[in-house]
Amino acid sequence: MFRAMGNGAAGLVLALLVIVGVQVYGNVLVPVGSDQQIAKVEGLAAAGAAPAEELSLGALLSEASADEGKKIAKKCVSCHTFEPGGPTKVGPNLANTVGHDKGSKPGFAYSAGMQEKPGNWTYEDLNTFLTKPSAFVSGTKMTFAGLAKAKDRAAVITYLASITENPPPKPKP
Ligand code: HEC
Repeated sequence: MFRAMGNGAAGLVLALLVIVGVQVYGNVLVPVGSDQQIAKVEGLAAAGAAPAEELSLGALLSEASADEGKKIAKKCVSCHTFEPGGPTKVGPNLANTVGHDKGSKPGFAYSAGMQEKPGNWTYEDLNTFLTKPSAFVSGTKMTFAGLAKAKDRAAVITYLASITENPPPKPKP
């Protein structure tokens, strides 16, 4: 019940419970006054208010599996090949991407936005790009909505690192 409510609603309910002087715990009426019960209600209110704690990219990467990432990368194979030296499709081959210059695969005509994007593909940049490609590279040719789940992105990036020679060290958890 508390989870569904915003902070304010949960706070109001807490106040009402205190005013009424009783609370119901699984059919048992418990008089308010016991510190333990008050702590429980406050705990529930806090749980309803606080957003789920986000894991850092480093923590997600330390738990991610390349095999899992390979499965998720089925979403990419209509446009990308992954094996080293694989052909260009709608998008460039993705072997040896992590730590390499953005938009640098020979024989692929990148968008102007990708060509102008500075720097190498860090784990962080890949994570941001794969969340919503069009938001990271304006005018990108990659017409893919993105991977909404942080865990899925970490798995795919781990797979990309596994098909990269000498990938850079992963960020610390
Ligand atoms: C609809 C086709 C399409 C899909 C699906 C797609 N991509 Fe792409 N991708 C592209 C194109 C086209 C580019 C080149 C973008 C540009 O030039 O702006 C690209 C670029 C990239 C790059 C940058 C490569 C470089 O050389 O700098 C990465 C990394 C990438 N895609 C990863 C993925 C991953 C991972 C998935 C699946 C989760 C995926 N893409 C799904 C078409 C696609």
